[in-house]
Amino acid sequence: MFEKVRIVRYIGNKTNLYNFIIPELKNKLKEKEKFYEFFAGTNAISFEINKLNKNIYANDISLYSKIIFSLLDTYIEDINIKNLIEFFNYIDTNNSEKLIEKYNITELFITNELSMSGNVKTADKEIFKNQEFQSRMYFPYKIGLKIDVIRFLLKNNIFKLNKKEKIIILNMLLNYADKHANTTGVYGAFLKTNKIKNIRPFYNKQLFNNIIEYIKEYNIKNTIKKFFQDDILNVIEHEKIENAVIYLDPPYNTRDYQTNYHILNYIIDLNFNPDYIKYGSKTAVPKTEKRFKNISSSNKTIINNFEKILRYLANKNNEIFISYSSEGIMKLEDYQNLANKLGYTFEVKEKEYRKYKSQKNNSNSSVFEYLIKLN
Ligand SMILES: C[S@@+](CC[C@H](N)C(=O)[O-])C[C@H]1O[C@@H](n2cnc3c(N)ncnc32)[C@H](O)[C@@H]1O
Repeated sequence: MFEKVRIVRYIGNKTNLYNFIIPELKNKLKEKEKFYEFFAGTNAISFEINKLNKNIYANDISLYSKIIFSLLDTYIEDINIKNLIEFFNYIDTNNSEKLIEKYNITELFITNELSMSGNVKTADKEIFKNQEFQSRMYFPYKIGLKIDVIRFLLKNNIFKLNKKEKIIILNMLLNYADKHANTTGVYGAFLKTNKIKNIRPFYNKQLFNNIIEYIKEYNIKNTIKKFFQDDILNVIEHEKIENAVIYLDPPYNTRDYQTNYHILNYIIDLNFNPDYIKYGSKTAVPKTEKRFKNISSSNKTIINNFEKILRYLANKNNEIFISYSSEGIMKLEDYQNLANKLGYTFEVKEKEYRKYKSQKNNSNSSVFEYLIKLN
């Protein structure tokens, strides 16, 4: 079902591994009422666990993760479907330039800072030479304008929408932006020529219907749904986490999600302005002070961080599951050593995830996905 509510493309998304992961979690949730997902990303796992009517606590450093999670805490009686469709139609039937004039919209940050032909203020145009447009090229100009108009209408609440209706529109906006991103899928770079030729309407009827269907069927108002948007190390230190099923899906390698998906955060942060961007950054990364420390910047860092995490969670009647891959920077032995050191029992389940022919030596290679179980 979550497959149908897929908001954005995301490295590490676990939708394709449901059969491998969910039955294990479900089994342990027979005896527990609380589920924690600490590196939630698209919240793919929480969307499945939500069907079991459990208390769900999730965390990620990213705002988009929080906005997607908020769909689990949205109830059908809180939203007026007719108003939402009216909003979508208004966006699709009115020319963005006309709306900018009508409302005198001056905050065109997505257009100017991130879109083709934008008037960039946070970098010298020189760095964009050798490109089709002398600006950042994450979105076609028209898309940038449309995103800015939607942001303005939401920020100033022109349509008198409530908080939950806004959450739905922000999710639709994430999806709309991601569908029109001139990238290969991540925002760590944009393409140097415009590859987005097909511009779709903002009203993605299929996705909207799927969201509404999911909310109707699975969101029942008697459980806790809480999202902490913080560094996991802060959350575990301050929360009393016991008698729970915990799922940890850390970044597998040194890739920093904050500089690969930052554009998604900008789009849905209605307070976003160019001051967030590090001056001179071609890809518009956030200023360092606006970022968390990368939890997996090296093999040593992630081992140290995991030691802290597992130490906090130990001896509290928790069932812990960790996703991990044979391509990851933290090795199976590292997890095993930590488990021994902290007195956890250690079990691991594996699945061949992908097989490919290595072009270099012509041999078959496989990537394995693992699920580590600690208690
Ligand atoms: C492998 S992805 C998780 C994917 C997720 N399971 C899904 O299905 O979409 C790892 C996530 O860890 C988050 N992350 C990285 N460092 C973090 C930290 N220190 N605290 C909390 N989350 C962090 C990233 O933002 C990213 O979303």
